[in-house]
Amino acid sequence: MGGRNPFLGTPDVPPPTQPYRLVIVAADGREHTIDVDPARVPCSGHGRPGSILDIALAHGVAIDHACGGVCACATCHVLVRTGGGSCNPPSDEEEDQLDEAPGLTPHSRLACQCVPSGAADVRAEVPAWNRNAVREGHG
Ligand code: FES
Repeated sequence: MGGRNPFLGTPDVPPPTQPYRLVIVAADGREHTIDVDPARVPCSGHGRPGSILDIALAHGVAIDHACGGVCACATCHVLVRTGGGSCNPPSDEEEDQLDEAPGLTPHSRLACQCVPSGAADVRAEVPAWNRNAVREGHG
């Protein structure tokens, strides 16, 4: 995977066009509610602009992102419980990474690749097993 552009061959994903509410159950198990204003989508520099990871990190919400948000791990695995239909479909590269992710479900997405359009509110949860791992790893 070294040196490979993970976004090669995948179309750009437009950032949100409408305000929406993003609820994230983060790696620390806490629930965070973020009102996303498309006119002021923050940029953390991690993941696709406007992705769940990008917005979470810009608001100080913890989601693992070992590869820095370039679709090369799967540590940013989240379960998009609601609003998944308002997000970009996963690319082949995202599907490939998710295939390697433990605990894969029909709601699984990579937070660094999943960009809500704003057409619906979104709830994304770090999987419970991963939250537990974070707690064990960091006290
Ligand atoms: S942070 Fe590595 S795939 Fe999302």
